[in-house]
Amino acid sequence: MASLLARKRERRKIPMLTCYDYSTARLMAEAGVDVILVGDTYAEVCLGHASTLPVTMDQMITVAMAVRRGAPGAFLIGDMPYLSYQTGPADAIRNAGRFMAEAGCDCVKIEVDGDSADLVAAMARATIPVMAHLGLRPQAVHRTGGYRVQGRTAGEAFTIVRDAKLLEQAGAAALLLEAVPGEVARIVAERTPLPVIGCVAGPYCDGTVVVLHDMLGYSAGHPPRSVKRYADQHAALTQAFSAYAEDVVAQRFPADGHWFAMNEAELAHLGQLLSDQAVVAPHPDAEKRE
Ligand code: KIV
Repeated sequence: MASLLARKRERRKIPMLTCYDYSTARLMAEAGVDVILVGDTYAEVCLGHASTLPVTMDQMITVAMAVRRGAPGAFLIGDMPYLSYQTGPADAIRNAGRFMAEAGCDCVKIEVDGDSADLVAAMARATIPVMAHLGLRPQAVHRTGGYRVQGRTAGEAFTIVRDAKLLEQAGAAALLLEAVPGEVARIVAERTPLPVIGCVAGPYCDGTVVVLHDMLGYSAGHPPRSVKRYADQHAALTQAFSAYAEDVVAQRFPADGHWFAMNEAELAHLGQLLSDQAVVAPHPDAEKRE
């Protein structure tokens, strides 16, 4: 947590990405992206669900462990899935503890509002660093009425600013604001010493997070958030897949260099063995199987 706080103090922006597997985590580490969220968007972009709700604790732990193996030095945040913490402090502490102890996370993220201050306080007392996710809360869309920008009216914005302060006072270690106007994000970031990460929340936060598949142009079936594209993986991957399929059909792959050959003497020996009755004798267990 200290490194994020220092970056805020020194006004060095924090680039954060979501990640869901070992190989990609390795590339992020190599590229110097050292703040990684194992997001519950895993449910949407990797498992193909229509929302984040169906992903389970066990699935999130497996993914977080893989990402940790790929990026051992990263600041790793485990996103607590639906109903892993809303059911009360005992569940929240036990499940957050799994992210910390089993997956080696540095922090957990939960989706909250001001009513969650007691929960955050209980988790903080249990030594768990909590990133409090405010604004659009995808796990609560059935209660809040859909995926829409939060804090557009003065009243809604006031609630977000007030809740951010309440959660800071309750012991949150960091804040994440999703889909709030840039002006609101700025007020929150200026009024708290905590690092504030924005997700579609404008340029004034201390850092920014985007969903990996959105920035890579790799969001098959998943509604992309408003994100700048840094690659066109959709085109790159579909081209690679169809080139592969064409090569196999046209017998251009596998070609020389893509397969292993036997030593000539061993091949000749195999020829002898194959014409030897002993090699084609019935397997000793054959009778038992009949
Ligand atoms: O799970 C996730 O990817 C998130 C981001 C949208 C911030 O929570």
